[in-house]
This record gives sequence, C-alpha cells and structure tokens, in this order.
Amino acid sequence: MAAEPRLLVSLEPSEELTSALRTHLPEVPWAYVGQADAGPWPEAEAILTSNVPRELAAWTSRATPRLRFVQSLWTGLDRFPFDRFPPAVLIAGNVGAYAPAVAEHAVALLLALAHDLRGNHDLVQSGRLRPTSPRRDLGGGVVLLLGFGEIAREVVRLLRPWNVRVRGVSRRGDPAPEAERMYPASALPDALGEADFVVDSRPLTTLTRATIDRDALERMRPTAVYVNVGRAGTVVERDLFEHLRAHPEFRAGLDVWWGEDYSTGTLRLRFPFANLPNFLGSPHNASESHDEGSRGFDSAARNLARFFSGQTPAGLAPRAEYAPGA
Ligand SMILES: NC(=O)c1ccc[n+]([C@@H]2O[C@H](COP(=O)([O-])OP(=O)(O)OC[C@H]3O[C@@H](n4cnc5c(N)ncnc54)[C@H](OP(=O)(O)O)[C@@H]3O)[C@@H](O)[C@H]2O)c1
Repeated sequence: MAAEPRLLVSLEPSEELTSALRTHLPEVPWAYVGQADAGPWPEAEAILTSNVPRELAAWTSRATPRLRFVQSLWTGLDRFPFDRFPPAVLIAGNVGAYAPAVAEHAVALLLALAHDLRGNHDLVQSGRLRPTSPRRDLGGGVVLLLGFGEIAREVVRLLRPWNVRVRGVSRRGDPAPEAERMYPASALPDALGEADFVVDSRPLTTLTRATIDRDALERMRPTAVYVNVGRAGTVVERDLFEHLRAHPEFRAGLDVWWGEDYSTGTLRLRFPFANLPNFLGSPHNASESHDEGSRGFDSAARNLARFFSGQTPAGLAPRAEYAPGA
C-alpha cells in the first residue's frame, strides 16, 4: 500500500514539477489533489498550490488536521485567501523564484524610459530627427529600490556597471551591504525626494497599499523615472496618471496593473496611460522568461524541503499585513 501523503500538490503535476519534487523531496510521499477531492489526508503536513480557490475548492482544513505549511507557486500573496487556513498554518510566497527575470525586465523598462526609446521611435516613425527629448543617464545617478528583496538585489547586481548610487527602503531600514543608505518604510517620502530613479518591487500589503499617492509623487524629483514591477496596488492609479500628465518630464513604467483579469486575459484601465508620451507599460510579463516554469517549481520544492527538514522556510508571509482587503 502506498504511504499516506505528507505533501499535497493542488496544481497539476507536470514533468518539470515532478522532477523538482523528486530532486528536493525524495523521501516525502506526495499526492495530487484534484478539485473534486476533499480528503481526508490525515498525514498531510504541507500543501503546494498555485490557485487556492480553483484547485482547493472542495478542501477544508478538517481534511488535513496536521497541516502546518502552505507553499504558493507565486511570489505575491496579495490575492491569497489566508482566511481559508487556520492561523497557525505558515504561508510562504515563492520569494526570489522569478527575481532574475523580473529584475532584467525592470532594468529594460528603466533604460527604455531613461533614454526615451518610445519618443525616439516616434520621431523616426514620423521621419524627423529633431527635437529629441533629454536623456537621463544612469551613470552616477541615485537609484532607490522600494522593497530591498530578491528582485531589488538582482536589479542592483545588473546595474553595477553603471556605478549608480544605491539606496533602499525596507520595513525596518536595516543596513544592506549593497546600499549606501537604507530607509525604514516610515521615511519613504524623504527617500523618494533623493532619487533619480525609483524601482518598486514591494509586495502589496496593508502597509504598502496606495503609498505612492499624490503626495509621494510630488516628493519625487520632477525628472525622476519610476518603474513598478511589484504590484500596482501600491500606487494610486488616478494620482499617477494626473502626475504624469502634469509633469511631462517625469517618466514612469509599469509591468503590473490595477485591473488585471486573467480569466479573460484583459486589462481594465480607468485612465489612458498608454496615450501618455512619458509612460511605458508591459502586460505583467516581467517574469516570463524561458525557464520561468522550472525555476518556480525548483524554488518551491527547495522551500518545501526546508520545511520537511525542520528549518524555517523562506518567504513566510506576515499574516497580519495581509488582512482581508489588503
Ligand atoms: N511583475 C512580476 O511578474 C512579478 C514577479 C514576481 C514577484 N512580483 C512582485 O514582487 C514582489 C517582491 O518579490 P521578491 O521576490 O523580491 O520578494 P522579497 O525578496 O520578499 O522582496 C520583497 C521585499 O519587500 C520588503 N517589504 C515588505 N514590506 C515592505 C514595506 N512596507 N515597505 C518597504 N519594503 C517592504 C521586504 O523587506 P523587509 O522584510 O526587510 O521589510 C522584502 O525584502 C512580490 O511580492 C510580488 O508582488 C512581481
């Protein structure tokens, strides 16, 4: 008889996922639970999931009395239904799994905006050489990373050849070897005022929601470049649109959006950002590199292995910061 599963996998196990589990959790019996299954699984201690409402529709916590850990395949937990799991269950995002791809995309947006590639292309398309828009060279500039985590550190690594001056904002502002200065979240307005370039890769929580509002934008330098690859909910949509319109020298790029509807593959925009010449967008595809799938599975399986070997898993969500509606 097969051993009772200690790990439940709620997403369909592809060959890549199975291989990651075999590599990192060779001793842990696991089972795939389809939507129709509700248990019980008396020995299950952990769940690997990519979409709780869809994949675990029939499951309730009574089916897994020994559950202590849930690993999400995705990094961001702002849509995660925490209230489906008892308070003592640890929930982890797949922190850092997609950082190299997302950071490369953030740097692409940053450079494209700094060099106004969109404006340059428009000039060429209309058969004109001049007037060109002013270029913002990265070299020697102050780059401020909002959220100094895995994506931010990778951005810093990629920007090293430009000799930029690195500053960062994290919750407590603890020193980081890569940064000449770190700020606590409470000093966000001051930090924004000192930066030439701002890259936002913060998670969306009760503490970060709507923190880039009109006041924060007014604090930024009029010629600053702002890129967000974290979550759009950290920004007030109307305030960003109006700031871009009122400050043509300010430039912004977003990979993440307020109205993302993956069921239809559509973006719901309340303001015509794409018509603004000082704006550049991408459709939340920063993480879509050729090895995104295997990186995600590998990183999730490694974190599950930490849990099963008694170590503290990485990327544990501070549940209080993800209160309903966060
Ligand atoms: N565009 C995409 O396709 C894509 C892909 C992956 C991830 N993401 C987004 O990017 C986020 C970060 O991913 P990651 O891998 O870099 O995760 P990470 O390593 O956990 O980095 C996030 C950092 O944000 C900091 N932070 C948390 N709350 C903060 C606050 N109130 N103020 C300032 N900093 C705060 C944390 O630092 P402290 O704990 O020290 O405060 C943490 O180091 C994810 O949560 C997700 O929303 C987007």
